[in-house]
Amino acid sequence: MKDNIKIQIMDNAFDALVMIDEYGKVISWNASAERIFGFSAEEIMGKDVHKILMPEEYLQDFKRGFEFFKKTGLGPAVGKTLELTAKTKSGGKIPIELSVSPVKKGEGYLAVATIRDISERKAAEEKLQNQAQILSWLYDAAGRLTQALNVKTIARETVRSCLEVFGVTLAWLGYAEEDGSVRVLAHYPEDISYPAEISVRWDKTKEGQGPTGRAIREGKPQICNDIESEPSFAHWREKASKAGIRSSVALPLITRDRVFGALNLYSDKSGHFTPERMQYLQSFAHLAANALENARLYEETNRRIQRIQALRNIDMAITGSLDLRVVYRVALEEIVTQLKVDAACILIYNPHTNSLEVVAERGFRRTSLGTVISINETTAGRVFREHKIVHIPDLREVDKDEFARRDFMVEEGFISYYGVPLVAKGKLLGVLEVFQRKLSNDQREWLHYLETLGGQVAIAIENAALVDDLRLKHQDLLKAYDETIEGWGKALSLKEEETAEHSERVTRMTVQIAKRMGIRGEDLTHVRRGALLHDIGKIGVPDSILLKPGKLTEEEWVIMRKHPVYAFEMLSPIAYLRKAIDIPYCHHERWDGTGYPRGLKGKQIPLAARIFAVVDVWDALTSDRPYRKAWPQEKVTKYIKEQAGTHFDPEVVEEFLKLLSEESRR
Ligand code: C2E
Ligand code: SIN
Ligand code: SIN
Ligand code: FE
Ligand code: FE
Repeated sequence: MKDNIKIQIMDNAFDALVMIDEYGKVISWNASAERIFGFSAEEIMGKDVHKILMPEEYLQDFKRGFEFFKKTGLGPAVGKTLELTAKTKSGGKIPIELSVSPVKKGEGYLAVATIRDISERKAAEEKLQNQAQILSWLYDAAGRLTQALNVKTIARETVRSCLEVFGVTLAWLGYAEEDGSVRVLAHYPEDISYPAEISVRWDKTKEGQGPTGRAIREGKPQICNDIESEPSFAHWREKASKAGIRSSVALPLITRDRVFGALNLYSDKSGHFTPERMQYLQSFAHLAANALENARLYEETNRRIQRIQALRNIDMAITGSLDLRVVYRVALEEIVTQLKVDAACILIYNPHTNSLEVVAERGFRRTSLGTVISINETTAGRVFREHKIVHIPDLREVDKDEFARRDFMVEEGFISYYGVPLVAKGKLLGVLEVFQRKLSNDQREWLHYLETLGGQVAIAIENAALVDDLRLKHQDLLKAYDETIEGWGKALSLKEEETAEHSERVTRMTVQIAKRMGIRGEDLTHVRRGALLHDIGKIGVPDSILLKPGKLTEEEWVIMRKHPVYAFEMLSPIAYLRKAIDIPYCHHERWDGTGYPRGLKGKQIPLAARIFAVVDVWDALTSDRPYRKAWPQEKVTKYIKEQAGTHFDPEVVEEFLKLLSEESRR
């Protein structure tokens, strides 16, 4: 009866209860022990517990420990718990918690061991630890991504992080191109050629029906946990298998609701992309997408700036060059005097009317300017059509079919005629005609000279025509500069989710105060441009910081405070904008020297920037920002007054307040 109760208690216990005798042999084995280790009581009773349950590597230690225990009743698991690994019947290993109670028997001790299977707890702990580790990696990776402002670097960093952080075996990142293809921007490890071997698209073609194409079209991750059985993977299966790929996920890269590419990850294990991993992967892809888009914007803006600079250089080179009419005049003067002829004229081909037109003349008694000559029937036409010099020794002897203007020329008293084609850089421009009022006895040398001059005239005309064309373009260009500046301002407003009126308003007020404070003429233009561009450097600040609804952390402030420096880097290479740089670069300096980026003080700060600082803060405080609501007018005005002499130049504050009260009276 007593024994029965004992057995019942033992069998109902959740933990394994194992009693061993002084030889280490099992003398009691409960139901939980059976459940945990798989051995039935019959199988194990009387057997050496250490041999059966303890792994090889610490068998010896246990034997030794037991010898000590059976004499003293002491040991590392006595009165405490010890975490160990034990063997099971199936040959597996499980983590256990062991606690031993000594039972006095004669001179020595028996052991009652309480053993608990802690597999589940261990697994949970491990998972937590993994998650903590992934989070910390993710945090590091995020830091690295937001530091860079170069698309390539970020792409490379992204795919590398995927291997380090998420235990995938291969990663590549591709951009969705307008032509429907997906362009690989980076892959890792670099010696795996699979991404370069496959062709992936995102349009309606067959190659656009895989996970990547779908991810880009639908904006949702496409998980494929076994590429052998996933139908949409069929097209790539063979190559993927060869590359050792078993599972994959294609994550869309999205910013501002636009999918611009995909991040593809692969594992050599099937089923790698579990829902838990997907959570991290998605936040990581989101982060990478933002960093990439931000860098792209920055690069694009810089590229545009450089292009404008190149145009501007050309444009300066041609300033002061000759105008076409001057070229004609100089050329004819040269010809008539150098060749000692009586008259000369230039005919230029007009492709619209397919005819030659007299554009310049010298030495005529009556003008023939503007005369239009068909290229089909006339001598000049022949010169033009055949590309060669035509000589008429005596105009009086030809009839009208041969020389349509014969009568006119004879009236002028001309006898000898030469027509020379005007050819520059292989392009036929027109015809040069020279006339003499006597029979000519021309030497070969003279003829050669005529030809050479014809060539020079052609080149001069060609250059001047180019210049003329460029001059027109120059006008457009100047207009384009100003439009570009306004465009940038607007692009930034969009990014900051402000209205375009914002930058127009601050610009208008800044210019007004600048005028009142004595800034004039061209300087005012620079002030205007500077105000329009004041926060252009924010293009380099990640959206996650710029649009953050709450306070910035110290690290975020470090980046935010760079925006005036970014502006300086962007604008200073452009001659055209160099003088407009004061506001973008210095608008966060403070009168008392506590501002950034350089900590300038008082009148060290350019006047334009001192003016703008007041307008900027006034405008910021009267507007809603992602990080706070607009303040009421009175509070803003009070604040601006308070800051005179600390944040702001007091004279500027005075002008500003005057302007405000005048405007409100209006
Ligand atoms: P912003 O929003 O255009 O603000 C321009 C300037 O107006 C600020 O320069 C600051 O001098 C003034 N200002 C704006 N809001 C406040 C305010 O609530 N209180 C006071 N006393 N002054 C204000 P600052 O501080 O150098 O900031 C530069 C830029 O950094 C800001 O341009 C904004 O884009 C960003 N920023 C500043 N604080 C935060 C914040 O708490 N959260 C986020 N997400 N961004 C912030
Ligand atoms: C044992 O059960 O092997 C001995 C006890 C101990 O090591 O504390
Ligand atoms: C695809 O991405 O659309 C198929 C190819 C691949 O995932 O490797
Ligand atoms: Fe700013
Ligand atoms: Fe601003």
